[in-house]
Amino acid sequence: MNKKGKILVVGSSNTDLVIQTDHLPVPGETILGGNFFMSHGGKGANQAVAVAKLGGDTAFVGKIGTDLFGKQSCELFNKYGIDTTYLYKDEQTPSGVALITVDKNAENCIAVASGANMKLTPADLKHSMSAIDEAEVILVQLEIPMDTVEYVVKAGKEKHKKVVLNPAPAQKLSEELLNGLYLITPNETEAELLTGRKVTDVVSAEEAAQIFLEKGVENVIITLGSKGSCLYNKKESLFIPAFKVKAVDTTAAGDVYNGALCVRIAEKAEWKDAIVFANKAAAISVTRAGAQASVPTRKEVEEFKL
Ligand code: ATP
Ligand code: RIB
Repeated sequence: MNKKGKILVVGSSNTDLVIQTDHLPVPGETILGGNFFMSHGGKGANQAVAVAKLGGDTAFVGKIGTDLFGKQSCELFNKYGIDTTYLYKDEQTPSGVALITVDKNAENCIAVASGANMKLTPADLKHSMSAIDEAEVILVQLEIPMDTVEYVVKAGKEKHKKVVLNPAPAQKLSEELLNGLYLITPNETEAELLTGRKVTDVVSAEEAAQIFLEKGVENVIITLGSKGSCLYNKKESLFIPAFKVKAVDTTAAGDVYNGALCVRIAEKAEWKDAIVFANKAAAISVTRAGAQASVPTRKEVEEFKL
């Protein structure tokens, strides 16, 4: 294995309150008979835990409250060996919470109370500059303020880091933000919102990817759920099918995918190997309930066979 670089994840941390139901409720409907569980979540934290469990050298920059939820998240990061030197605390604001319903087809509906996540400022990132300096790969999502995302991307780009943006949940992005990203990893709906092209398959994914490449993104990976994922850059285009598994909960499939991908990028893997690894890790995760609770270990991914 090549020498691996450090991976800095900048993003949100939530506690997920999950109810498993027969179907997702429609407005005004009450569904009885669900199962309840709590799970550590938040796109940033899920991705950091995925990186750590899959063998990456990880630091996490985020903001939590001083409540029990934040404390428990922090304890878990430390358990996984994630560097939390720059995990900030806000005494006035609660830690992030997500209310999630998962139905019998593994589909979900999520409402997030961002809390302290939305208090992570560019000034906090300025204060975390040594973590940016030490990183080789920087992974960011969109559950923190956009000006903070823009600050990280700009600082990472200026310092010649591989900046990876998982543009979730979907939001419009500035041209400056897109220009110079090492990699963007939208799913179908995010790709459509950002490019105006409806993405449903490999052909439409390639059309959307061309728009990102024209805007100065170096590499584009579009994830297509149970269909798989595809990579486009100026030299190659690849489609790697997903592994066929029985999904019970797809929450955090994209997070596990992004964490896994960055682990292999930091290990200087070829794109094809990195994507197969990410597809495997995400496939295992959808067979398990919960967000961070569903992240497989490196050994599980390496031994994964259908
Ligand atoms: P989510 O929002 O559910 O976390 P996402 O919408 O960001 O995920 P997807 O495109 O749904 O991302 O999934 C990411 C990757 O996870 C896919 O490219 C695929 O490799 C894997 N995956 C997702 N769903 C399934 C499934 N049902 N079976 C196997 N693999 C899956
Ligand atoms: O991507 C899944 C995550 O989205 C959940 O863990 C939830 O907390 C929301 O942030």
